[in-house]
Amino acid sequence: MQELRNRLNEKEFNNEFTYQLLEAEKIFNKIFEVCGNEMEYGCGSYLIGSEKYEYSINMYPKQKLIYDKVKNVSSVLEIGTYMGHSLLLMLLANPSLNITCIDIEDKYSGKVIEFLKSVFPKARIKFFKGNSLKILPKIREKFDFFHIDGAHGNTTITKEFIHCKRMSSSKDFKLIFDDVEVCKTLQDNINLSYNVIDSHSPNCVNKNKFCQIRINSDVKISKKDDKKFRYNVAKSFLKEFPSRLTRFVIKKIKNM
Ligand SMILES: C[S@@+](CC[C@H](N)C(=O)[O-])C[C@H]1O[C@@H](n2cnc3c(N)ncnc32)[C@H](O)[C@@H]1O
Repeated sequence: MQELRNRLNEKEFNNEFTYQLLEAEKIFNKIFEVCGNEMEYGCGSYLIGSEKYEYSINMYPKQKLIYDKVKNVSSVLEIGTYMGHSLLLMLLANPSLNITCIDIEDKYSGKVIEFLKSVFPKARIKFFKGNSLKILPKIREKFDFFHIDGAHGNTTITKEFIHCKRMSSSKDFKLIFDDVEVCKTLQDNINLSYNVIDSHSPNCVNKNKFCQIRINSDVKISKKDDKKFRYNVAKSFLKEFPSRLTRFVIKKIKNM
């Protein structure tokens, strides 16, 4: 994190978040140790690139976004935990957070969560290992905030979005999508169907996106919006069907 330290005098970096992050450098390094000095090459995270365990200042704006948004919430559901870097950012923002994490793999997340529990004893961290689409329907709890950073396919993220919306504790459904470029169709469908009262993406690599959707308190109107969303999802699926079918056939031929 030396580069970040060197830039502390710049307006963009001179803030509470940077100081918290620098203070957490030892935790960041210890995470790698806890993971046996291994990582999943090719898999990205909020704090490192996909090739080397080294802090990435290029993602500073998205790191700050998740930190800022979680500061004033008390419960979060996260899909996609990996080495716990987004989890660490959220715990730095709120050390007594109640957070439920889901990951299909626990090679790294299992060990890191145990470690972070010891660093943040006031937090309540739950972990479910499994496919989000199998786990989410079983969760009955409500959450103030959602972080969607698991599978990187528009269809899966759309299904995750539907589950998360059901679990929102408030009429203002707040969430962050990571790597938002991979679910452009979903973003369009959300904008076409719901009352999006705030949405923004920071300017950086592997952009994430904050989204706040006002759920109508009139159940009838709210159900109508959900219906509109499902209609738009089906419409976009049909529009993309020819290219999906072509990709499917090419894959089958390649595997013959
Ligand atoms: C990009 S990484 C998450 C990075 C993490 N948020 C961070 O900042 O350190 C994506 C994670 O999602 C998990 N994943 C992929 N598909 C999933 C699914 N269908 N259900 C649950 N987890 C999934 C992967 O195992 C991987 O650990």
